[in-house]
Parts: sequence; structure tokens; C-alpha cells
Amino acid sequence: MKMITAIIQTHKLDDVRESLNEVGIMGMTVTEAKGFGRTKGHTEIYRGAEYQINYIPKFKIELVVEDSIEEKVIETISKTAKTGKIGDGKIFVWDIETAIRIRTGETDEQAL
Ligand SMILES: Nc1ncnc2c1ncn2[C@@H]1O[C@H](COP(=O)(O)OP(=O)(O)OP(=O)(O)O)[C@@H](O)[C@H]1O
Ligand SMILES: [Mg+2]
Repeated sequence: MKMITAIIQTHKLDDVRESLNEVGIMGMTVTEAKGFGRTKGHTEIYRGAEYQINYIPKFKIELVVEDSIEEKVIETISKTAKTGKIGDGKIFVWDIETAIRIRTGETDEQAL
């Protein structure tokens, strides 16, 4: 299993979620996040306004998926979240050792 963490522009969340539904994801966690990337200090557009601040609001999405759909998920997020301008975000991939579905006690792929 892999955990795919992506930091995306806030206005891209609905598009990303819709396109991921077609890939067969089982669940997703969304967190309001703030951060900066390597272009810190440059202006970025957020809700039509230019920001030159240290921390730009973003959404962090996290999905734990079977290895077999990892690449498809990454490709889908990359395509859907891209505007081509600075601040489009990043994707990080982690190995996941164990998953447990609390209600049923199922583990690993069966728990997703
Ligand atoms: N190395 C990193 N580690 C952790 N979080 C990061 C890292 N780089 C970026 N982020 C997160 O991703 C968000 C978006 O980053 P951003 O897309 O601006 O990266 P960038 O390197 O500046 O690229 P770009 O030139 O496209 O703006 C940041 O606000 C931050 O929350
Ligand atoms: Mg940036």
C-alpha cells in the first residue's frame, strides 16, 4: 500500500476529487494547510488576489491506495491540479506498512 499526500491549490479540490472517483479510490482525507515551496517570496494568486506572504492556504489530501493504482492516482492528481503557474503544489508518496479498519478488524488492502 502507498500513502499519496498531495498539496494542491484550494480551487482544484473538487476537480481532483471528481477525477479520482473514476480511478477507484476507497477514501481520502482533506486538511486545510498552509505552507510555502521553493518559490517563497514570490507573489502567488489566491482567490483573485496576489499574495506576497510566507504562508499560502492550500489543501492537503491524503489517500492510502493499493500499489496497483498508485501510478494512476499520481497521474490523475498531477493532470487535474495543474494550472502551469507557480503554487500548483506537490505530491509525496510513502510506503504504508499496515492498515486496520476499526469496525471490522480487517487489515491491509481489505481495510482500505
Ligand atoms: N519540500 C516541501 N516539503 C513540504 N511541503 C512542501 C514542500 N514544497 C512545497 N510544499 C507544500 O506545497 C505547497 C505548494 O508548493 P509550491 O507548489 O508553491 O512549490 P514550489 O516548489 O514553490 O513550486 P512552484 O515553483 O510551482 O511554486 C506549499 O505551500 C507547501 O505547503
Ligand atoms: Mg511556489
